[in-house]
Amino acid sequence: MSEPREVIAQAAGVNVRLANADDLGGIMTIERAVFEHEAWSAEAMRRDMLDANCYYLVGELVATGQIVGYAGLLCGAGSGEGDIQTIAVRPTVRSRGLGRVMMADLIAEAGRRGATRLFLEVRSDNPVAIGLYRALGFVEVGVREGYYQPDNVDAVVMKLEPVPGGPSSRKLGPIGSELTNPPAIGEWPKDGAC
Ligand SMILES: CC(C)(COP(=O)(O)OP(=O)(O)OC[C@H]1O[C@@H](n2cnc3c(N)ncnc32)[C@H](O)[C@@H]1OP(=O)(O)O)[C@@H](O)C(=O)NCCC(=O)NCCS
Repeated sequence: MSEPREVIAQAAGVNVRLANADDLGGIMTIERAVFEHEAWSAEAMRRDMLDANCYYLVGELVATGQIVGYAGLLCGAGSGEGDIQTIAVRPTVRSRGLGRVMMADLIAEAGRRGATRLFLEVRSDNPVAIGLYRALGFVEVGVREGYYQPDNVDAVVMKLEPVPGGPSSRKLGPIGSELTNPPAIGEWPKDGAC
């Protein structure tokens, strides 16, 4: 993979850019510290990062270049939907806006790829992440009981629809069409995400 360095977005003291294979070590350091026994393996993370259907960002400190956050989207062009795969920020760099700007760019990328809806799953005992997702327009659409093991914690399934910048956000239907064409209930992402 090439080494894109273009700054996509910024939070306080942090530049956000596309991830590349050289970032795997920095990402895994955070992944293991933050998610502990639920952490992905380095091989699984590498495979996801390099998958053409995925889009991964890293946040790096402007001062030192240290990787302090990452976030990933799965959204195949033409699939019409996407999943937020993961997001994490080093504890010492939280509440500076990095999580929000990375999420905003994943959402924008999903729109560019033509997604009309975006899903994620989050532990029900994670109010900070749930608050962030709600602030970005995600709504709760279901619960997967005991999804996170061995902690036996439920997964809250959240959905963003329409995706800003996506096809359905660009066309306006007739007033009242939402009543005659209501969104389907009980739609689920195909696999676990985030
Ligand atoms: C969720 C996470 C990525 C947010 O990253 P962050 O860089 O701290 O987030 P931001 O600074 O952009 O804050 C975004 C929003 O999160 C919420 N938030 C952030 N810090 C918070 C805190 N200490 N208490 C409550 N809410 C908080 C707020 O809604 C905030 O919006 P606001 O800035 O408009 O108030 C980060 O907390 C994290 O890495 N958590 C552990 C990993 C994790 O839970 N990942 C999600 C798995 S689904």
